[in-house]
Amino acid sequence: MKNLTRRELIAATAAAGASTLLDASSFAAQQQPGSLTSVVEIPMPSLPEKLTATEAVGIKRATHEAHLKLWQGYAKKTNEIRKALAELTADSSKANQVYSLIRSLKVEYSFAYQGLINHNIYFDTLGGSGGPPTGKASDLIRAGFGSHQVWAEDFKSSGIAARGWVFLAYDHAEKRLFNYVGDSQNTYPLWNHTCILAMDVYEHAYFMDFAEKRAAYIDAYMKVIDWQAVNARLAAAI
Ligand SMILES: [Fe+2]
Repeated sequence: MKNLTRRELIAATAAAGASTLLDASSFAAQQQPGSLTSVVEIPMPSLPEKLTATEAVGIKRATHEAHLKLWQGYAKKTNEIRKALAELTADSSKANQVYSLIRSLKVEYSFAYQGLINHNIYFDTLGGSGGPPTGKASDLIRAGFGSHQVWAEDFKSSGIAARGWVFLAYDHAEKRLFNYVGDSQNTYPLWNHTCILAMDVYEHAYFMDFAEKRAAYIDAYMKVIDWQAVNARLAAAI
């Protein structure tokens, strides 16, 4: 099967109506029938400067630095699976729901990419000055939960009940906010929602600072939510 040049790759992608093409040549992907027409390589994440604000509430720099390695791991694995998918020639006769290469790649792609997205939101919305919700997020929280206090108690309770994440997400159909739980990186997102705040409650997010006291970590976390960043995500979504 022919390997496309970068120029041919760009032309093919444009013809297919793709909106982006980032450094497809870096992976030298073999373009074959059934494979992706482009590979978008995600750059490695880095810690935002504003995270220094979390020191005051007991979430230490060392925790963030260890956490960064996991965050970057999701980016690396997302890139690796994208490359593998680009090099894969889809063959329906080999696909199998018990085990097949395409099944493994698609399932783990969901875990890796959603893991990256979750951490992008977590680190983007952390490191603020705390206080109650502000702006449009405040309005929607009041409309959806009745008060900031009711929302906060639901958010904290969800964080104790979850095995991995709590997501504050905007439901585009019902035009309201809701606190969702996640037990792993790729559970349980719903279509037609935009996540505007993600709290990591995996042990790696707090064990070095709070040991098994997850509730204390959540109390600390909620004092340094960056509501400006949350509102920026909300504004982009609605
Ligand atoms: Fe994490």
